[in-house]
Amino acid sequence: MLTTAILSALAEEQQGLIALLENPVPVERAGRVFWQGHLGGKPVVLALSRIGKVSAATTATALIEAFGVKRMVFTGVAGGVGAGVAMGDAVVATGFVQHDMNASPLYPRFEAPLYGRRQFDCDPALTAILLEATRAALTGAGGQFDHKSVGGLSGMPAVHTVHAGLLASGDRFVSGVEESQTLLTSLKAVGLAPLAVEMEGAAVAQVCFDYQVPFAAVRTISDRADDAALHDFNRFVQYIASPWARAIIQNLMPRLA
Ligand code: ADE
Repeated sequence: MLTTAILSALAEEQQGLIALLENPVPVERAGRVFWQGHLGGKPVVLALSRIGKVSAATTATALIEAFGVKRMVFTGVAGGVGAGVAMGDAVVATGFVQHDMNASPLYPRFEAPLYGRRQFDCDPALTAILLEATRAALTGAGGQFDHKSVGGLSGMPAVHTVHAGLLASGDRFVSGVEESQTLLTSLKAVGLAPLAVEMEGAAVAQVCFDYQVPFAAVRTISDRADDAALHDFNRFVQYIASPWARAIIQNLMPRLA
């Protein structure tokens, strides 16, 4: 059976997954702890990408080289920047761009040098399964969580929309309306319209492209990458990110061959 890597960016997001792991075996590698085991009887390795693109690339490479994973799934949080992408929604990635890649004038802005591309696409088949699992999880999970108990997240709608589209990664926590508008405007100028921003996905997508390993990613929307982003992010990570990641993965595993 194929071994699936399940990546999380933050320890808080991973906690619930470790709790579910059957026969957990922690293995240390590259200064990280990887959790080998089974979920729903299927072999998995749980890993923390840590924060930022380089850390995420190290984790993804170790998963492939040292643990032999044959597909990779990332669950995490992101700041919504697309119109209609609200806190509590989820975005299943169709592809990734690095919003802070700029080797111009050597290469066109946002293009990954020597790849001749700005965007790294996710695996369509794995992404379709993840989309289905996310819809099942959020529709089901939406009623399970008492939003009123999550002080300060009162702006979060009770109904969660699952979007599919482009995500933009960069080594920046985007926490200002002006900053996110500037970022969107420059990407729009080259025909790219991300739905959300985060800090790791594009690196993992590029490593998976290099090794030809199928990759899919989902991000729940913790904030709107605006002036309230830090506050909203902290609350979301504290109360919501972990149970939602767990619900998504629990819905994903039975759908994987
Ligand atoms: N992850 C969650 N929210 C984010 C934001 N606003 N910027 C970058 N990464 C994020």
